[in-house]
Amino acid sequence: MKESEKVVIKKPYVLLSAAMSIDGKIASRAGDPELSDEQDWKEVHKIRSKMDAILVGKETILKDNPKLHIKFHEHKGYYRIVVDSKLTIPLDSNVISFQSEIYPTIICTTERVPIKKIRQFEASNVKIIQSGAGRRVNLVKLMPLLYRLGIHSILLEGGGTLNWSFIKNDLIDEIRLTIAPWIIGGKDAVSLVEGEGFEKMIQAPRFRLLNINDRDNYVVLNYKRSDK
Ligand SMILES: NC(=O)c1ccc[n+]([C@@H]2O[C@H](COP(=O)([O-])OP(=O)(O)OC[C@H]3O[C@@H](n4cnc5c(N)ncnc54)[C@H](OP(=O)(O)O)[C@@H]3O)[C@@H](O)[C@H]2O)c1
Repeated sequence: MKESEKVVIKKPYVLLSAAMSIDGKIASRAGDPELSDEQDWKEVHKIRSKMDAILVGKETILKDNPKLHIKFHEHKGYYRIVVDSKLTIPLDSNVISFQSEIYPTIICTTERVPIKKIRQFEASNVKIIQSGAGRRVNLVKLMPLLYRLGIHSILLEGGGTLNWSFIKNDLIDEIRLTIAPWIIGGKDAVSLVEGEGFEKMIQAPRFRLLNINDRDNYVVLNYKRSDK
């Protein structure tokens, strides 16, 4: 196939956002994720206000029960997206029950989920997207499905397991990382990126440093995916 004949598959622009400790943890071993200060939250909420969707993994919903809303700025609303292969998050999770008219919720599952379960969630105004028949949601197939829904920008807000799947599939375009002034430790505390990791540096996607800001002992780093 000639270069000009290649089919371009459109995917949303993905910005990974996280706050981590100096030693790379995004929560304590007991699951305490309170690393950001108010200034950092304001900045993250500003970014949320410009995105078409916020995407998180199932464990973040189960552990933190976030609303994924905006407190500090004017906005037009956006989708909240959860990847949950077997559709197991509770129906009374904040991400489903809180202000769904402003922030509609999409849950992405695999094709293995029974239709009866899907109907239950649809009855609570949740849109279900099935992507792949494997053990976990197929993110590569999912991206163009979301794009076709009009979701052209996604703020990926973790956790570490989902971040790894995005990194492994080279789906991240930009990173905004807050380094908070603590060392938390603990081999069971979730890191920015979990998963099995790459064996060799050459396999890992490389990022270009765009910006560094520091204030009150916090450092905010911005990276962009280097040209492939
Ligand atoms: N500091 C921060 O900025 C920040 C931000 C977000 C989260 N967190 C913290 O991160 C922790 C949660 O992270 P986590 O690593 O335990 O879980 P996670 O990344 O939130 O969720 C992972 C789960 O998502 C589901 N999933 C579905 N498809 C997937 C795919 N293709 N790849 C990966 N996962 C997929 C899997 O469950 P199924 O197989 O059942 O579908 C998987 O176990 C919490 O403690 C939270 O507080 C911190």
